[in-house]
Amino acid sequence: MTRSNPNFPSDLDIKPSSSVLNGFNQLSDDRFGADAQTQAIQAYGIAGRVWEASYAMLAYLDRASPTLDGHDVITLDPPPFTETIHLSGSTSEDDPLTILELGSGTGLVAARIGAYLQHERAIMVATDLPEVCSLLQKNLRGCATVEVHPLSWGSHQDALSIASSLALGSARRLAYIICSDLVYFPALLAPLLRTLLHLTSEPVVAPSQPPPRIIVSYKIRSLAKETSFWGAFGLWFTFAPVLARRRASGDGERNEGRWDRFVPVPGQDETFVFIGHRRPESRIWSIPEDDEGLLGGVGAWGTMDHKVDDTFETMLLMSLGTMDE
Ligand SMILES: C[S@@+](CC[C@H](N)C(=O)[O-])C[C@H]1O[C@@H](n2cnc3c(N)ncnc32)[C@H](O)[C@@H]1O
Repeated sequence: MTRSNPNFPSDLDIKPSSSVLNGFNQLSDDRFGADAQTQAIQAYGIAGRVWEASYAMLAYLDRASPTLDGHDVITLDPPPFTETIHLSGSTSEDDPLTILELGSGTGLVAARIGAYLQHERAIMVATDLPEVCSLLQKNLRGCATVEVHPLSWGSHQDALSIASSLALGSARRLAYIICSDLVYFPALLAPLLRTLLHLTSEPVVAPSQPPPRIIVSYKIRSLAKETSFWGAFGLWFTFAPVLARRRASGDGERNEGRWDRFVPVPGQDETFVFIGHRRPESRIWSIPEDDEGLLGGVGAWGTMDHKVDDTFETMLLMSLGTMDE
């Protein structure tokens, strides 16, 4: 694995993203606009850009923000937790909602989700590499419900120290883990998966607690480099795309179309929003210490041979079938 800074690869050549090209009205928030991204890219490299999948995450979780399709989608399955917070038992005094985001980058997603948290003890935890935390601190300064913590993927120590400072696995239950645009460089895939395993294992999650729900937004950039993540992730976690029912075109207000995979911006079929859960049986499997073994499926299903899960591949084939219709 390369030990160079993952935010400054030698061929780095990136420009700010545009909210308009990603389905939202022009961002009126200076912290995440084009000028702020340009400055942040100079100082923080990849972490300073707002990546496409974060707009997809917000299209799912931040339904109050105005979108260009005018909320053509009528119903989402599962419904975003931001719409059901007031109904959920986890905002009670005994179980305040706790959400953790990995690789938060500029903090756009954390800022928007944090704004939904009304309960005074509810917390949105934004995390990233230690050297990116100053960007998060700056952009999230005014967000009363958001905390920033360093969390380098693969570091059990980082996961444990967050768990201990928030009393996860005892007084608090980690309810959601948010991952936006984190599946890209091959060298980061195993450390990312390892952190997801740490955050869904004891002591972060007590045996009596339901495991956190993982919400992933992902844009395919290079399938050849990225599929090994899904092949290994699916061995330890079940996952499925969010489904959406859109208003059938050309018809009246209440005419609901069929259920399809939620594609946040119509036509951008390479963007996915998944919901994942740790497989309960996997809690007793041993997690291999070497990254190659982990990505190769060693330890999964309690055996030491290499193996791959085909959930993602099947999903891609089914999407192709839908597009041909
Ligand atoms: C492509 S950016 C996505 C940023 C943000 N989530 C978004 O969607 O705009 C990947 C993020 O992962 C972070 N990252 C990369 N390697 C990491 C590691 N080993 N541990 C923790 N975070 C890492 C980067 O600093 C960056 O913020």
